[in-house]
Parts: sequence; C-alpha cells; structure tokens
Amino acid sequence: MCGIVGYVGSRDAVPVIVEGLRQLEYRGYDSAGVAVVRDGTLQRRRSVGKLCNLEDSLRAEPLAGAFGIGHTRWATHGRPSEENAHPHQDCKGKIVVVHNGIIENYLPLKTRLAAQGHKFVTQTDTEVVAHLVESLYKGDLEDAVRRALGELEGIYALVLLHKDEPQKLIAARKGPPLVVGLGEKEHFLASDIPALLSYTRDFLFLDDGDVVVVTPDSVKLTDSSGRVVKRDPQRITWDPIQAEKGGYRHFMLKEIHEQPRAVRDTLLGRIGIEDGEVHLEELGAAEEELKRAKRVMLVACGTSWHAALVGKYLLEQVAQVPAEVDYGSEFRYRNPLVGPASLCVAITQSGETADTLAAFREAKRLGALPIAICNVQGSMITREAAGTLLTHAGPEIGVASTKAFTAQIVALALLALRLGRLRGTLTNERCRELLESLARVPHLMENALAMSGRMDDAAKWLSRSPNMLYLGRGVNYPIALEGALKMKEISYIHAEGYPAGEMKHGPIALIDESLPVVALCPRGRVYDKMLSNIQEVKARGGRVIAITFQGDTEVGKVLEADRDLIFDVPAVAEVWSPLLMVLPLQLMAYHTAVRAGRDVDQPRNLAKSVTVE
Ligand code: M6R
Repeated sequence: MCGIVGYVGSRDAVPVIVEGLRQLEYRGYDSAGVAVVRDGTLQRRRSVGKLCNLEDSLRAEPLAGAFGIGHTRWATHGRPSEENAHPHQDCKGKIVVVHNGIIENYLPLKTRLAAQGHKFVTQTDTEVVAHLVESLYKGDLEDAVRRALGELEGIYALVLLHKDEPQKLIAARKGPPLVVGLGEKEHFLASDIPALLSYTRDFLFLDDGDVVVVTPDSVKLTDSSGRVVKRDPQRITWDPIQAEKGGYRHFMLKEIHEQPRAVRDTLLGRIGIEDGEVHLEELGAAEEELKRAKRVMLVACGTSWHAALVGKYLLEQVAQVPAEVDYGSEFRYRNPLVGPASLCVAITQSGETADTLAAFREAKRLGALPIAICNVQGSMITREAAGTLLTHAGPEIGVASTKAFTAQIVALALLALRLGRLRGTLTNERCRELLESLARVPHLMENALAMSGRMDDAAKWLSRSPNMLYLGRGVNYPIALEGALKMKEISYIHAEGYPAGEMKHGPIALIDESLPVVALCPRGRVYDKMLSNIQEVKARGGRVIAITFQGDTEVGKVLEADRDLIFDVPAVAEVWSPLLMVLPLQLMAYHTAVRAGRDVDQPRNLAKSVTVE
C-alpha cells in the first residue's frame, strides 16, 4: 500500500529511485512520482497510472538530482490523478513529502493551516504534512518534522526533504514499514528490501516511533523522544534473482511453480523422519509454553485467512487442540474472550498487514501467547511475536498470493504436529507417518504442476463466464474459498467459495448450464458426500470442473465428457491434500486472467501489503 524510495549519495538520484519504485510497484500503482534536488533547485515529476507512465515522461523530459524521494501510490484519500500523486509539497515549493499510511486528523489540521493562509491543491491527507512542517520550519527540517509528528494521528511511513538542506532526508515510521539501505557514502530509504537489493544487502529496520536523518555519510536513528538509538544492521542473504521473473511471463506463474521449493525449504531442518519429531527451536522460550496451550486463536486476512482455516482443521485433527479463526479486521471489534493458556497465531506473508497486526496486539494485550507465521524476516509482526515460524517461500511479488499460502499451510502443519507431540495427543508413530507423507509433498507438487499446459480448455471457457461457484468440504473447504479468491482478484470474475454441504441451503438456486462449478473431490472422509454434491449440480444441468486424485474412477462416471472437465493431482494423505488441490485452482485463475487480458501481477484496486485498516 504505497511504496517509498529515497536516495542520498553521489549517483544521479532519479534512476535509483525509479528502479526502486519498480520493485515496489506491487504496493500500489495508481500513480507514481519523484522529487529531486539539483544545485538548490527542487523538481517534481508525477504521472497517473503505472510507473511506466512516469518513465515515459522522464524519457521525454529527463530530470536529474543529487538527492530525492519517490513514491508509487495506492489511493486512499483522493482519486488517482496527477494532482493527488506524491510527492506533495508546501506552499513555497521547498519541502516535499512522500507518505504511506493515513493521517487520520488531516481534516482539522487542514482547516487550521488553511485559516493560517496555507494553500491546499490536492484531496489527499498527505499534503497536510508538507504544510504542517512548513508552518513549523525554522531552518532545521529535523526539528520541524519532529514537532509535526507530535501533531499527527494515524499511521505513516514518511520521508521528507527540504531543498535548502542539501543531501539530507528525514524519515519517520509509525505503522507501515520503512528500511534504511546502507551503502558506501550513500544511503537509501525504502518501504521494502527488494527496492534496494541492487545497491546493498545491509539494512536497518525502522521501528514504530523511529525518526531517522540520512545523509551520504551518516544515519542518525532516534526514537520518538529524540534519544539516539543504536541498532545493528541486518545482512539480507536472499538472492536478488529471487525477486526477478526468471523467464516466466508473470511473477505469479513463477511463484506458482516455486511452490515445491518453498514447501521443501519450509520443512528443511524442522522435521526428523527418523525420530518422528518436529523441531521448532526457533520459537525459543515460546516453544516450552506451547505445551500449556489449551486453545489456539488464528488471526489473518485474505489468503492467509484461508491458510488459517486449514490450520484450524489441522490443529483440531492432528493436535486435538480447540482452534478458532478470526479475520484480523473483525477480532478487535467483537469481545474476544481470551482464556488462560491461549495461543494467538497470526498468519501473514508480509508481516505488515495492519488488520492482522491490530488483532495480534489485542490478543497479546489480553494475555495470549503471541506466535507469528510470517514470510518476511524482520517485519513488524516478527518483532512483536514471542516466537516466529518463518515460511521460507522467498519474496512474493505477485499481488495474488500463491507460494506464501502453501508455505503457511506447511508451517501450520508443523505447529500442529509439534503441539500434538508436546500435548501427548499425537503418538510418535502417527507423527512419523504424517511426516513421511508431508515430506513427499514437494515432489508430488512438481508432478501436479506439470498440468499447466492443459489449463487452456478451462481458461477459454471460464474467461467468458461472469460467475463461478467453488465447492469443497472439510480441509478442502478453505481451498474452495482460496480458489474463488484467486479467480476474483486477478480475472475479476465473480466467484463464490462454499462448503459443498451448504449448497442445498441457497446457492443451488444459481445452478444452470451457464455457471461453472469447481468441485474439490479428493479421496477421503467426505469423498462420497462430494460425489453426491456433484450429482446435484449435474441433475440441474450444471457444468463441473472436478479436481480429483490421480487414479480416481468414480467422478468421471457422473460427468459428461463434452461438457465437464477433470483435473487430477497425485494422491496424498487427506490432511495434506490442500497443498495439492490448490495448485490447479491457482493455475486456472492464472490462465483465465491471462486469456481475459488482465494484469495478472498487478490487478486493479489491489496492493500487496495492506498497511491501513
Ligand atoms: O501479507 P498478508 O499475508 O498479511 O496479506 C493478507 C492479504 O492482504 C493477502 O493474502 C491478500 O488477500 C492477497 N492479495 C491474496 O492473494
């Protein structure tokens, strides 16, 4: 949700900023802009729409600067327009600011500043920051920013510069992420690491309340009261190539195909087939406390929420511990009764989702043991958790989450197995059996992904369908939800996920020859029930896309060869079947969106990390 880049050093700031923004475009693409200073002159360039529009404008009329800031926007206040694009400036055109977040009290501030004579030219909440800092500026930007922060309510990652204070950037964080990239006689600021990986591997992560003053030779980090803070930089070990498309047409397709590796890496070093145990030492002291857990509360949003639903099933089935699932955005607004020995597990790819963080903090405040399942080391949630289980999916760039999802399910599986062993509800023998079949999953996924080419028949049909229904039961009901979400977010086809048993209570009224129904039908406890549900669809003239295990002989019998489709995936233990059943649904959504000419990696209105509530 908005990407920020800042640069001070001896290079031309414009290409550094634009390249950084390209890596951050997943965070928003409603508009993009840069502001740079050269020889005491401040210049801004902004364009509506994707970064390529800004690049076109810069090619036509180049800009250069010794230091500067840039922004790619996901609009909250004010429609996407050039006027509303960041960076925003003060009345005199001396101070510019880029912002990720929401200034909640911008209206009273704007009214006050306008009464003092400040001229506002945008509908954004951010512009108020430029004018507020201008009103407090007495020749020292750091001082003015610090005083302005005292008046701001809401959440922000902010970077500002003043054209008369050369080679200096001031940044502040409360909520949305911000990192400082450390170079030799040059420094960088960005919302996320990939923006800076071509320049540095050494990063300082800003905490909430931090203010940092960055020049080519220094990084002064202070807390909200102005006290200097010493913090060790962290070295990022992942390969920048992991954040590239690597020959695939889209990040999403690359990430779908990376799932066997992501699952393998998430299992690596954590499972002992020989001793039939799961090792989660990285949870530190929190691991000991798991033993006492009487109940698990899972909080998450979007795709991660679907992983949480699978997690509930696994925790209850494998560890026999009661589990409940909440949307991050709902948890705080009911009256959650957090009893003793409750564990709160937040599941988040980014570790920055505002709704998930807020729920996590509330559960922590109410006394739950806070554990995070997260894909981004050093992210906000990992710093607030008593223990973190990192998913090793690698950077996920496509806005539609794929590899992070399967890696989250694997992390939840490990947690369920560990809890089962610690609580004595899972025998060593059963644990070993489950681990053996889990360890085979990456290989089975590789086999399942080979179907990629066969998705075109489905895509041809689905790209012309305005609506779809996805049905699943048991541990695969969340996969029906996830399949529908993938289809919605990248193809813009309206798709509903339903527990198949609920169809007769309402959605069955939708069934006719024009509604494609995707039915998840792996062998297992609910197989016969799913077969009956498919028959109910067929009896009403519906058309079905069935996802089965390889070797299935029954589902084909109730389908019509010329009207329905079947995709099969390798058979696996029912508890792990979501890891395979989801793959055809991801591919189906991908190929349908491509056929419909959609922007797969950057679907309209979405952003990868949603850092506002
Ligand atoms: O980073 P998080 O896992 O916390 O993000 C949660 C959701 O915003 C995210 O899963 C979103 O639903 C994706 N676009 C789904 O593909």
